[in-house]
Amino acid sequence: MSRFARVFCCLMLAAVATATAAAETQAQSSYIVHVAPSHAPRSSRPRLLARAYTSFLRDTLPESMWLPAPKMLYSYAHAATGFAARLTKLQAAHLESQRSVLAVVPDKMLQLHTTLTPSFLGLSGSYGLVPESNGAEDVVIGVIDTGIYPIDRASFAAAADQYLPPPPPKFRGSCVSTPAFNASAYCNNKLVGAKFFSEGYEAESGGFNETEESKSPLDTHGHGTHTASTAAGSAVPGAAFFNYGRGEAVGMAPGARIAAYKACWKNGCTDSDILAAFDAAIADGVDVISFSIGAVGLAPEFFNDTTAIGAFRAVRKGIVVSASAGNSGPDEFTVVNTAPITGVSLYAGKPLNASEKIPLVYGGDVGSNVCQEGKLNASLVAGKIVLCDPGVNPRAMKGEAVKLAGGAGAILSSTKEFGEMAMASAHVLPAAAITFAAAEKIKKYISTETKPVAKIVFRGTVVGETPSSPRIASFSSRGPNIRAPEILKPDVTAPGVDILAAWTGESSPSGLDSDKRRVEFNIISGTSMSCPHVSGIAALLREARPDWSPAAIKSALMTTAYNEDNEGDVIKDMSTGNASTPFVRGAGHVDPNRAADPGLVYDAGADDYISFLCALGYTAEQIAVFATDGLEADCSTRAASAGDLNYPAFAVVFNSTSDQITQRRVVRNVGNRARATYKARVACPAGVRVTVKPRMLRFRATQETQEYEITFAPRRAENVTEKYSFGSLVWSDGEHKVRSPIAITWPAASQVAAM
Ligand SMILES: *[C@@H]1O[C@H](CO)[C@@H](O)[C@H](O)[C@H]1NC(C)=O
Ligand SMILES: *[C@@H]1O[C@H](CO)[C@@H](O)[C@H](O)[C@H]1NC(C)=O
Ligand SMILES: *[C@@H]1O[C@H](CO)[C@@H](O)[C@H](O)[C@H]1NC(C)=O
Ligand SMILES: *[C@@H]1O[C@H](CO)[C@@H](O)[C@H](O)[C@H]1NC(C)=O
Ligand SMILES: *[C@@H]1O[C@H](CO)[C@@H](O)[C@H](O)[C@H]1NC(C)=O
Ligand SMILES: *[C@@H]1O[C@H](CO)[C@@H](O)[C@H](O)[C@H]1NC(C)=O
Ligand SMILES: *[C@@H]1O[C@H](CO)[C@@H](O)[C@H](O)[C@H]1NC(C)=O
Ligand SMILES: *[C@@H]1O[C@H](CO)[C@@H](O)[C@H](O)[C@H]1NC(C)=O
Repeated sequence: MSRFARVFCCLMLAAVATATAAAETQAQSSYIVHVAPSHAPRSSRPRLLARAYTSFLRDTLPESMWLPAPKMLYSYAHAATGFAARLTKLQAAHLESQRSVLAVVPDKMLQLHTTLTPSFLGLSGSYGLVPESNGAEDVVIGVIDTGIYPIDRASFAAAADQYLPPPPPKFRGSCVSTPAFNASAYCNNKLVGAKFFSEGYEAESGGFNETEESKSPLDTHGHGTHTASTAAGSAVPGAAFFNYGRGEAVGMAPGARIAAYKACWKNGCTDSDILAAFDAAIADGVDVISFSIGAVGLAPEFFNDTTAIGAFRAVRKGIVVSASAGNSGPDEFTVVNTAPITGVSLYAGKPLNASEKIPLVYGGDVGSNVCQEGKLNASLVAGKIVLCDPGVNPRAMKGEAVKLAGGAGAILSSTKEFGEMAMASAHVLPAAAITFAAAEKIKKYISTETKPVAKIVFRGTVVGETPSSPRIASFSSRGPNIRAPEILKPDVTAPGVDILAAWTGESSPSGLDSDKRRVEFNIISGTSMSCPHVSGIAALLREARPDWSPAAIKSALMTTAYNEDNEGDVIKDMSTGNASTPFVRGAGHVDPNRAADPGLVYDAGADDYISFLCALGYTAEQIAVFATDGLEADCSTRAASAGDLNYPAFAVVFNSTSDQITQRRVVRNVGNRARATYKARVACPAGVRVTVKPRMLRFRATQETQEYEITFAPRRAENVTEKYSFGSLVWSDGEHKVRSPIAITWPAASQVAAM
């Protein structure tokens, strides 16, 4: 190669490198910018606000950074103070260094992960909380999700069997009309709001494919329709997913109004869109926000957690926020067939011939142990039943792969961690899900038998006394709380497995494109199915007890929750088959009728949460992101420890066996008797001495508050080998039982808990 050519080559490379670097510094991505309240525009009118933040950017960025021009996605007035915009890294870093800016957080994409439940929860139209709250007619539940599908869906009809008056005047929301969503035809006194938020999603995914999803509040996925009807669907008699779960489908709060805020799209939901949905819901004046969307991986730090910020601001305005992260669901009604190996399925097509035994093969022997499409050898699968391992591809897709390879049926193993639990799905061929242990048995049978055979018999819905109910689903997330070990999480449990509720007409019940079935109702599972149950119950309480704060409502749900199943044993954990712990079931399973009359409540306001964040060691700047309208973010004036947050549960972390930890609480008398005397009864966790001072609380008036102290000390004589031990404190006046769980983390486990 000539010298000249080499030089030329070098120049070329350098040019390319400069161009790449330029492209990198020019590349914009989405950020949420939290602005210090003292520098925020006064107006909350969207157009004025957007203009004000555009000039804020121009004033704050030096002229050399004006290009490429930032693109404003949203301005926030209620759920946060600030805006979302497309910025370069350099622009974002410059903003972050300004005193007028509290934090600049990169936008990220979150993933999405009734029915017979009201009678299971003891909710009835004729007694208790539902009539007492008139079905929560004055309450509007804002559902932040994948939108709503109201077309021919009786769950969202205004007047199925009851007349619903117009929504309360304090609600200022509305329905937007688009070519795919005719607001005047779809909205009514039941569905009172429908909006969509896609700016962040469009920016992240580089545009919107209108042939794949419609830019409208219309739910093309199904999840949002399902959660909305679980929380507040009107009663629909004779509802079923094919023949499974037939019965009356009715939401928890059948009179409550629904406002749908669509922030989730085909490939997920961005923080900036979710924050915009919170912003709109707060501005519209909803009473409850139901939010069933989870972050992927570890929970973010509170101040870095957009939804925590939106939720905090909402609670500050008196809105009850029910989020699914950490909530859980026991087995509500099991779809079980009994012999010889029990599995679950929501297959609704032509069954296999019950008297015919069909050859059985293991996916691992015929091309793909997880039954991936295109990998199964059709000549080995045709006409057979295939056993598939869990993982890699979704369960409905495994069934489809077996079908495409000509298989007759599929048996899907659950993971080992799921223990006794198997997940039912809506399959396109005869298929059943079984437990890991059962799958191991079948594998052994296949490997030892020369001609293994099987049959799959469908028994329909079995609403059973066996196994016991409720039980905690294996997929439920577990405590301890990684961000604040002093706070017990999850709070409460509610039904979340095999929930029948309304579904979209725009996609199949299995979620597969090739599945052409369309259904009015579908059965799905997940912690996101528990959340709308709690939202609906919170709506009933909001109506029946209008003077209660969001914290008081949460306290009532927690202290009245029950912890025994229908056989009188501690609620079981399906992943082990053993008794669950408070790290799994929280304060217990919600009991809505008792929650209306808890006796005492543990109240807390925004100020208490700020003290709590201070105690966790957050800086004033981080806390200021949460603080609004005059809340003092200065931690130096606050002395509380994290354990003193007035929370209706106790989580104690011992660093050494010589620790002694005291926590303080305040309770308020909300019982119907002005004079009441409550006595403490403690079930001590193993190895711990618990003292309560005073042991008796005397109230002379309703709304009166009393304080007490509770001290935890390890007993020297006992060596606890477990990582955790559990107990409870119950205050009782003979009529009410105000129960708080106690969870102790021992030194050996505190490293694990902190991870
Ligand atoms: C929307 O619905 C209303 C009421 O049903 C109807 O009058 C109107 O024609 C519909 N508009 C469109 C564009 O279909
Ligand atoms: C939009 O989606 C359709 C259907 O999936 C697809 O055929 C088309 O290529 C997509 N268009 C773009 C621009 O991605
Ligand atoms: C906050 O989130 C950003 C991006 O998600 C991350 O880079 C940063 O480290 C986080 N900050 C803390 C303190 O966790
Ligand atoms: C089921 O299989 C049995 C035995 O092979 C056969 O006699 C019967 O006709 C089959 N029934 C149907 C409905 O195909
Ligand atoms: C499928 O199995 C048959 C029979 O064992 C075998 O002859 C064939 O090569 C296999 N095909 C592939 C693609 O592995
Ligand atoms: C469940 O309980 C049994 C009997 O107490 C015990 O042997 C077993 O180890 C427990 N299983 C788990 C996973 O904790
Ligand atoms: C336990 O250790 C942590 C971290 O070292 C510390 O913040 C906390 O105050 C300690 N708790 C007690 C009761 O000593
Ligand atoms: C507890 O453990 C310590 C250290 O291992 C030991 O010296 C002591 O005897 C144990 N106490 C009891 C009651 O087992």
